[in-house]
Amino acid sequence: MQLITIRDALQQWCRDIDDIDARILLQHVLNVSHAHLIAHAEQALDSKQAQSFRLLAERRTRGEPVAYLIGKREFYSLGFTVTPAVLIPRPETELLVDLALARIPLDLPWKILDLGTGSGAIALAIAKHRPLANIVAVDFSADALAVAKINACQLDVNNARFIEADWFGDFNGERFNLIVSNPPYIADGDPHLTRGDLRFEPHLALAAENEGLDCIRSIIAAAPAHLVVGGALLLEHGYDQAEACRRLLSEAGFERIFSRPDLAGIPRVSGGALEIA
Ligand SMILES: C[S@@+](CC[C@H](N)C(=O)[O-])C[C@H]1O[C@@H](n2cnc3c(N)ncnc32)[C@H](O)[C@@H]1O
Repeated sequence: MQLITIRDALQQWCRDIDDIDARILLQHVLNVSHAHLIAHAEQALDSKQAQSFRLLAERRTRGEPVAYLIGKREFYSLGFTVTPAVLIPRPETELLVDLALARIPLDLPWKILDLGTGSGAIALAIAKHRPLANIVAVDFSADALAVAKINACQLDVNNARFIEADWFGDFNGERFNLIVSNPPYIADGDPHLTRGDLRFEPHLALAAENEGLDCIRSIIAAAPAHLVVGGALLLEHGYDQAEACRRLLSEAGFERIFSRPDLAGIPRVSGGALEIA
């Protein structure tokens, strides 16, 4: 194969993909910084590098998410391994972590439950920032939990444990100070599921029946039996689900119910506290 430079590889093989995505893929293959690509645009790729990059560029052209192609994604300034077994952590989910950290004292061994942990993004971000807290992270998918455990190891977290369960399935009477969740909330059949990155992400992580509210409804209904008095539940939800969440929280006996917008101004997290067990 004829040698190709960084500049030519980006120009010739990445016509149909976003320039930033192309550069991230090439940085990954060459294991260099963004600055290196700019400063060494005339550097030639060896044949193995050229072959790997061309393949990744083709897969990206077919729509595969960059995070799956390079096997990682940053969340809450932490590096997470991601595979097609887990949802790619989203920036808007950082709001849920912010709101959780605002409640969890630094000096108390609070018990925290993360339902539907996926890559472990929420659980591990909380665990890193609250070393005294005990985090339990649940998922229905054994493959997702395997990824979350790899992330716990890579991030050197030892105050989180991982349980395979159907939401609260295995917690007989165990009570938590705080329950957090980013459950599946896209309505089954929503056309977005057939577009962009979502086509490649696990259906189990994305979609829920009854206008996307099924998982949210199950979690809210069962949460009071798993919270201490004064404990709280925080849930991420879809752009048009805040009102329904607040109503469900109220029906389940929660008080001090609120919704908070993400950086785009969209109501994204709702929650409440349980004043009576
Ligand atoms: C939207 S993803 C959230 C992943 C991760 N917490 C995040 O925010 O990036 C929802 C997760 O819930 C899990 N899940 C779906 N149904 C479940 C159930 N019945 N019990 C436990 N986990 C479930 C999925 O496997 C998926 O990992």
